[in-house]
Amino acid sequence: MKVINVKNAQEGGLVAFNLLKKELDKGAKTLGLATGSTPIPFYEELVSSDIDFSQLTSINLDEYVGLAPSNDQSYHYFMHKHLFDAKPFKDNFLPDGLAKDLEAETDHYNHIIDEHPIDFQILGIGRNGHIGFNEPGTSFDENTHVVDLEQSTIEANSRFFSSIDQVPKQALSMGIASILKSKMIVLMAYGKDKASAIKGMIEGPVTEEMPASILQKHDNVIVIVDDEAASELN
Ligand code: GLP
Repeated sequence: MKVINVKNAQEGGLVAFNLLKKELDKGAKTLGLATGSTPIPFYEELVSSDIDFSQLTSINLDEYVGLAPSNDQSYHYFMHKHLFDAKPFKDNFLPDGLAKDLEAETDHYNHIIDEHPIDFQILGIGRNGHIGFNEPGTSFDENTHVVDLEQSTIEANSRFFSSIDQVPKQALSMGIASILKSKMIVLMAYGKDKASAIKGMIEGPVTEEMPASILQKHDNVIVIVDDEAASELN
């Protein structure tokens, strides 16, 4: 893993944007995208750029179960607001959180990922080291799957909902095995809430108890951190 230190999320977004530009110049066609507050400055760079995305495909990591795309807490809504409305793509794929048959939806999504190998994957990280919605204990061999969210994740995400009861208890998420298929992975983390996850990811043992630690085994990962997120690193 290569670690890049930045002053703040704005600078981190710009660094990630420049990495993406290089990959697009080399012919990248499919972007793996993430939600959360972390990648917002990166999306701002994309939106204000003159890059044409109309021949590119995007595949998102995850979506809550039970939220319609029109729900302002759904990840469909987030992606439209922060990127897709301003920058049309050829195709935008997100898991369908309203699918009647969730298992069938995971198979369908795995098929989409196989058809469109991800060239450039953006990741944030949860405070417990989750990536996508792969909570601690998730097998590294999982592809897209249905997830029961941990209480700590529900609590962390409740800041976006009017009450904690409104936070969905389940999600559909690309699995660790799906994420590892990406040719290049750029993970961003800012703030002291992320410091222990960043330490575990980079310096800890590779264990399913710290999902992001598996990135030590991928040969093209760049981690962008501010001083606070890097504060526990040796
Ligand atoms: C959610 C998302 C993750 C994201 C994480 C951290 O759980 N499923 O993809 O990385 O939150 O979010 P934030 O960037 O807001 O800290």
